[in-house]
Amino acid sequence: MTSINNELQSEIEIGNSPRIRPRRLRRTPALRRMVQETKLSPDDFIYPLFIRHGKDIQQPIRSMPGQFQWSIDRVVGEVKTAYSLGIPAVVLFGIPEIKDACGTENYNPNGIIPNAIRAIKDAVPEMTVISDMCFCEYTDHGHCGIINQRGEEHYDAHLPEGYLLNDPTLELLAQASIVHAEAGADIIAPSGMMDGMVGAIRSGLDGAGFDSVIVMSYAVKYASGFYGPFREAAESPPQFGDRSEYQMDPANKREALKEVALDVAEGADMLMVKPALPYLDIVSAVRQTYDLPLAAYQVSGEYAMIHAAAANGWIDLQRCALETLTSIKRAGADMILSYFAKEAAQWITR
Ligand code: PBG
Repeated sequence: MTSINNELQSEIEIGNSPRIRPRRLRRTPALRRMVQETKLSPDDFIYPLFIRHGKDIQQPIRSMPGQFQWSIDRVVGEVKTAYSLGIPAVVLFGIPEIKDACGTENYNPNGIIPNAIRAIKDAVPEMTVISDMCFCEYTDHGHCGIINQRGEEHYDAHLPEGYLLNDPTLELLAQASIVHAEAGADIIAPSGMMDGMVGAIRSGLDGAGFDSVIVMSYAVKYASGFYGPFREAAESPPQFGDRSEYQMDPANKREALKEVALDVAEGADMLMVKPALPYLDIVSAVRQTYDLPLAAYQVSGEYAMIHAAAANGWIDLQRCALETLTSIKRAGADMILSYFAKEAAQWITR
């Protein structure tokens, strides 16, 4: 750094036409390849999949062109394809048949995700299977855990009705994590932003003998408008209120580092920042402060807006998708959860 500055300084003093010409390095495609600082690889990607009950289902998600809700029999083939393209991991989201107040299907050993994990592990044992650990898909109220309700077991008169109860939710998160680990999940990824979720899941897993199962924490998850299409895809919009009482304010950065510090102390093996593109400064700050593997989630709305603009002919889909993925890696992410995973793996290896 210093030597370039000194050189620039002497150029200015001499008043020469500049001898340093960055464009020299851009002259040919081969030169550009040689000096490229950030390279995308299929290894970087984690492919999110939505799984529902039924047979022979591959149902398009309207707001996410090219993405589907899959039945278990059909998703297995998709996972095989992804693995053959070099993608090392999938993250699974379940759409249960029945939703209830406590999200029972999330910890039912025969629930949609435990069954999907077993089928995928049977067919493609090498694929890393990540289980998104949250209750919003499974509860009838659409919130990420147990809510405060008069007359219910955990009712707390000091908290308002409808408030998401932290500690009772932790118990269920630990219980469901054990069930998913038993089914074969390699990584549990808690995404509900409950205080203490990493510690609760870690001790639950360890207590049940799953000390080799990894915890990838959605450590920094913002209350974002960019989750819009996901809520259609996973059929999980909150039935009242929003998630600002547990997800983070998009305006806050110091608080993000505090969230990460807690998760690291509680034993997280991997960290995540979500969404990605509007939060690249956060990705960069977490990368600089912690040495754990770091993931960033290019969420449904980021995917949808690139598709929508491309469908209008306003931007080029492949170019802009790859540009965003590169920027996320450049900012410091080691792994990118992206709905573009499969296509991007093809684009960059062709
Ligand atoms: C579950 C969860 C959400 C997403 C991932 N896990 C939704 C939410 O918090 O509302 C969003 C992913 C996306 O938008 O692609 N808590």
